[in-house]
Amino acid sequence: MEVTDFNKQLESNRLQLSRITPDDVDDIFEYASDYEVSRFTSWVQHQTIDHSHSFVNVVRQKYDNNQPSDWGIIDKVTNKLIGACGWVYVNENHRRAEIGYVLSRSYWNLGYMSEAVTMILQFGFQDLNLNRIEARCFAENTASERVMQKVGLQYEGLLREQMLVKGNLIDLKMYSILKREWQS
Ligand SMILES: CC(C)(COP(=O)(O)OP(=O)(O)OC[C@H]1O[C@@H](n2cnc3c(N)ncnc32)[C@H](O)[C@@H]1OP(=O)(O)O)[C@@H](O)C(=O)NCCC(=O)NCCS
Repeated sequence: MEVTDFNKQLESNRLQLSRITPDDVDDIFEYASDYEVSRFTSWVQHQTIDHSHSFVNVVRQKYDNNQPSDWGIIDKVTNKLIGACGWVYVNENHRRAEIGYVLSRSYWNLGYMSEAVTMILQFGFQDLNLNRIEARCFAENTASERVMQKVGLQYEGLLREQMLVKGNLIDLKMYSILKREWQS
């Protein structure tokens, strides 16, 4: 049986989405240890580099087991890892998936994540033959919501107190896009 590569290398004008390697750990710690970056994420700010090592291990274990995982986002000019994005889950039976993403604060508001997510949508709909790709964000995470809107996801509703994160019950906004709505 053919094995699906859920994290095939992808490339756009400015970015490369690549499998994360142990060499990326310092770049990951750089963004993940920033409180502002983790403010609206389900994961907690990394306090030590060991936390980033653990993240890399989890991601790489998934690659090894042919499971959907995260890509590193590489700035093609500097070759630096500036964030991560990827599959929260892929349900092949229902041809449905959820994506998530994070970017180092120095690179915010330059269109990078919209560029990265556009690549994931193309790969998900064309190569993985998904029908529905969804994304959720904290209700007050305007930047993340804006990314979803810019790449064509539609607002579906508010998931009230959907997650218990860092001691707080969090409302999440649910967005999605269907294959027939997506323009390659
Ligand atoms: C969310 C995140 C990935 C966005 O990445 P990015 O590369 O800055 O996104 P883009 O530049 O493609 O788009 C951001 C959009 O949000 C807008 N925006 C940013 N902050 C905003 C705010 N406080 N209010 C209104 N709009 C805002 C930007 O102006 C831009 O829209 P525009 O292009 O129409 O001007 C980045 O902010 C991040 O990593 N945040 C922390 C982690 C996180 O929240 N991840 C998502 C979890 S669901």
